[in-house]
This record gives sequence, structure tokens and C-alpha cells, in this order.
Amino acid sequence: MRYETVHNVTLPKIGFGTWKIGGEASANSAIEEKSLAALRSALELGYTHFDTAEYYAGGHAEELLGQAIRESGLARETLFITSKVSPEHLQYETVLRCCENSLRRLGLDYLDLYLIHWPKLGMKLAETFRALNQLAREGKVRRLGVSNFNLRLLKQAQSFSETPLLTDQVPYRLPDRAYVKNGVLEYCQQNDILLTAYSPVKFRRLPVDKTLRAIAEAHSATPYQIALAWLAQQPRVITIPMSLDPRHQAENLAAADLILTEAEMAQLTIRSKGHPGFGGANRPGAALPGHHPQ
Ligand SMILES: NC(=O)c1ccc[n+]([C@@H]2O[C@H](COP(=O)([O-])OP(=O)(O)OC[C@H]3O[C@@H](n4cnc5c(N)ncnc54)[C@H](OP(=O)(O)O)[C@@H]3O)[C@@H](O)[C@H]2O)c1
Repeated sequence: MRYETVHNVTLPKIGFGTWKIGGEASANSAIEEKSLAALRSALELGYTHFDTAEYYAGGHAEELLGQAIRESGLARETLFITSKVSPEHLQYETVLRCCENSLRRLGLDYLDLYLIHWPKLGMKLAETFRALNQLAREGKVRRLGVSNFNLRLLKQAQSFSETPLLTDQVPYRLPDRAYVKNGVLEYCQQNDILLTAYSPVKFRRLPVDKTLRAIAEAHSATPYQIALAWLAQQPRVITIPMSLDPRHQAENLAAADLILTEAEMAQLTIRSKGHPGFGGANRPGAALPGHHPQ
């Protein structure tokens, strides 16, 4: 595994996402066992960074993650747990209450990282950070960050945070360069902020791309692994793929150890700019207040 260290925090290049664990917008008992099995195998395989949110499965993803952690017997300090407060909960008292609720559902007494899940039109960031800073001072959260923040909002958040902002979690994958185009990646790299790439392998028609397949074959790897290795190789970038399939989970974890050549990195970087084999157009560059949060 390769790691990123910023502001005395060391995080694995590849962590584990929990969107669709236990349900989507609400809990779904039909996928309870499958979800728990996925979390158990991720912990057994050696994932240490888990990304969740109060929104996921209406809070049930946090409950299942907490259960899997307790069952694993792993020491709390060996894990790095990220959760997120939803955009409709950004008022001072609500942030404090939502954090307590996330901690209760997870069965933990602190979060390693707490993020604002999405910006919201008209939000009062100073007020939200008053609560977030308080949580950090009280030790209920170790680090603060944001998600889906464009450059302007990221800079604002930075100015309100009493501790160095750890990350902006944004969509970033071979066919989606919106947060490169809008300057967030470069700003993160120049200011010791991690860019956490979400939905890193959510593609249409990924395996048909010739360049990706050729590079995968050269490394005896899958195209998905190459897509993750391409992210893991970039400075200040970490990523959090999700998979219910233990075989995919193991492959994704192993992708952090693949080393791509400079030529391969360049080929992939150029190739995927709107290339139809990678699923076409990029998303708009700005943060999308009110967008469906995942
Ligand atoms: N902050 C935000 O607004 C936001 C938004 C979206 C996501 N996220 C976070 O980012 C995490 C990851 O994003 P995501 O879940 O949207 O997308 P993702 O991890 O890019 O893609 C998940 C899908 O890819 C498949 N997959 C994963 N690894 C694979 C492999 N090695 N080979 C083949 N298929 C593979 C999975 O299927 P199988 O289960 O069959 O493997 C699953 O259907 C989320 O779980 C969540 O924690 C955050």
C-alpha cells in the first residue's frame, strides 16, 4: 500500500467507500447480510480508511460499519473513519447533534475526519465551521474537510477552519476531470490538501478502451486496477472505491501497489479527455448545490 501524509496525518492511497452499503437513501433490509459481508471482507483484506455519511442508507451504513468494526476486534487507532454531515444540517446546533448521532450509530467516540457532504445555496459557512471547530477542539472529530466544494468555496472553508483542512472529496476518475479543469486538484496539490477521488471506477464501457486494456495487459492487471493506480500515483490524491465483491475489493487494494510508467500516466491522462471509450463528456466544473448527495 502507498500512503499520503499531510499535516501529520497518514492515509492509505486506497480506502473503502460505503455508498449502497445497507441501502441507498434509506435502509434496505434485503441487502443487510450482503452489506455486512462486504464490510467484514474489506476489514479482513486490510482496508483501514472507511468513508461513510449520515446520508448513506439513512444512517444505516454507519451502523453496519460500526458493527463490522466491533466484530473485527481491530484496535480503533488502526482505522481511519470519515463521515459527513448533510447539506440540510449545516446550522450550528444541527451540526453538533448530527455528529453525535453519527458517533452513536458508529459506536465510536471520535471520527478521524468529518466533512461537509455538499455545499448548499445560502449556507452560512462561518456558522457551520463554528460548530465543526468546536467538535475538533472537543476531540470528537480529529480533522475537518469538505466535499463537492469548488475552488472558491474550498478557499472559504479553509479560511474558517481552525485546523488545516484535510481534504476536498470530489468526483475524479479517468473520464471525469471536472475538478482538474476547475483548478481544485492543482490548488490541493500546492496547499497540502488531499483530493479524495470518489466514484473512481464508475464508468460506462470502461473495458472497451484500447489504451486502458493494453496498459492493463502489460501489468497483468484489470482496467479497473489501472484506473485506480492512475489516481493513486498522483500526488495528494487518495481514493475510496466501493465494492460488494471480495475479489474486486482485493484487486482494488492491490492497485495501490501498481507503478505506472511516466509514459503510461501521460497516455491515460491525454487519452481520457472526452474520449468516447471512457464514456464521453465531463461533468460541469462548479459545485452543484442541491445535487443528490452520495
Ligand atoms: N462525497 C460525495 O458526494 C460522494 C459521492 C459518491 C460517492 N462517494 C463515496 O465514494 C465511494 C466510491 O464511489 P461510488 O461507490 O459512487 O463508485 P465506485 O466505487 O467508483 O464504483 C462502485 C461500482 O464499481 C464496481 N467495482 C468496484 N471495483 C471494481 C472492480 N475492481 N472491478 C469491477 N467492478 C468494480 C462495484 O461493483 P461490485 O460491487 O460488483 O464490485 C460498484 O458497482 C462511495 O461508496 C462513497 O463512499 C462520495
